[in-house]
Formats: sequence, C-alpha cells, structure tokens
Amino acid sequence: MEIIITNTPEEVGRVAADLIAGVVRSRADAVLGVATGSSPLATYRRLAELSAPGTADRVDFSAVSVFALDEYVGLPDGHPESYAAVVQREIVNPLGIDPANAHVPDGSAADVDAAAAEYDLAIAHAGGIELQLLGIGRNGHVGFNEPSSSLTSRTRVKTLAPQTRADNARFFDSPDQVPVHCITQGLGTIGDARRLLLVAQGVDKADAIAHVIEGPLSSRWPGSILQLHPHATVVIDEAAASGLA
Ligand code: F6R
Repeated sequence: MEIIITNTPEEVGRVAADLIAGVVRSRADAVLGVATGSSPLATYRRLAELSAPGTADRVDFSAVSVFALDEYVGLPDGHPESYAAVVQREIVNPLGIDPANAHVPDGSAADVDAAAAEYDLAIAHAGGIELQLLGIGRNGHVGFNEPSSSLTSRTRVKTLAPQTRADNARFFDSPDQVPVHCITQGLGTIGDARRLLLVAQGVDKADAIAHVIEGPLSSRWPGSILQLHPHATVVIDEAAASGLA
C-alpha cells in the first residue's frame, strides 16, 4: 500500500486529482469508480479545474464512465441528497462527463435486490473499474459496507449503522430523514477495481485510517481490505495520519 501524507486537506485533493488525471490521460474512455460525501470534494474541484476548456494540458472526461459506490434506498427520484443527484452535481456536470456514462445503483427500484445484482453486471459489462476512489467513515466503512460486512461481498442492500446515519444527518433537514437502507458495492466488488485510491482528511478519520493501514485485516474495519489489494494508494492529511504509529 502506498501512503501519501500531505500538509493540508486541500493538498489531498490535488494529489488524488493528479492520480486520476493520469489514468484518464492514458485512457480516454477509462471507467472510474466514484465516492460521494465530503472527502472527495476537493479532488473533484481540482479535476474540474484540470478539465476546464482552455486549460493547458486539459484532461478530457467526455468519454469517461463513472460508477458510484452506493445509493440510499427509498429517496424519491430527484431528491437533492440522493447520490444520483450528488454525482450529477459534483462530478458529471463540472467534469463534462456524458450523463449516459454515469451509473448509480437504483435505490428507488421496485426490486432493490435485483437492482443491486444488475449493478455488478453493469460494472463487469463496462470492463471493470480502472480506479476506484474511496472515502472512509469514522467507523471504518468503505462504500456503505459497515463493520462486520463480508470481505467478499458483492453489491447488495445494507442497513446503515446508527453512527453513519448520524454523521450523514448534516445533509438532511432532520436526522430521521436519513434513509435506513442503501445499495452499496460490496467489499469484493470494490476489491475487483484495478486500482484503489482512498482519501481522508481530519482527525475524525485518524482512528479508522490507523486500522486500515496498521491494523489486522478484519471485517470490523472494512477499509482494511486495502491491505489485500496489489495497487492501493491512501492520500491523507496530517490530521488523518495522526493515529499512525
Ligand atoms: C460515499 C461513501 C462513504 C463515504 C464515507 C465518508 O459514497 O461510500 O463511504 O465515503 O461515509 O463520508 P465523508 O467523506 O462525508 O466523511
């Protein structure tokens, strides 16, 4: 595992964006896995700068495909905090990605279990994910694979941990509006990506990061699957690195 520790939270975004830009420069129709939440926002802002028309050595996202990690179950179509809406707002629009190439699990499907299984098939049909960008929850979740998730799990319906619902309440008008269930790529699905890139900023993530990097491989800390991966990079600021030995 490659560990990059930056001086500032903004620098995390610059380093991660450069790695992603490198993938797209070497393959214009790259398939990227994308995370939502706060952690990758600086990365997306930097990628938007790199892809802006008129930029020297511009990165062109027009042929790139993206697959989101997860989606809430049961939000109405078009809800501004659905991950479909977040992916559109934070990634597809600013980077100039073709909306037809943006994929998010269907959390409003009549049969969410079938939608989850279809999502894994869609990733396989696209040729697999070249680089999967990840954030991490304070309890160590990646995607919405909460502690005790099977290390070989595939995309499926999961129940959000109370701590995750509380942490994500900031995006909703009240905590009880945070959905209870989600569809998330499984840990096995995530591990199939040819490259993993995890970003984290702030002292709130220090404990989870220490377990990912230095702890034993354990379903208690789902992010520890990065230890199994032949091409995993962790980009963190000093605060997120503060729990490392
Ligand atoms: C989001 C996702 C989650 C977040 C995690 C951290 O698609 O899969 O694992 O990355 O909850 O969220 P933030 O970045 O908001 O602290």
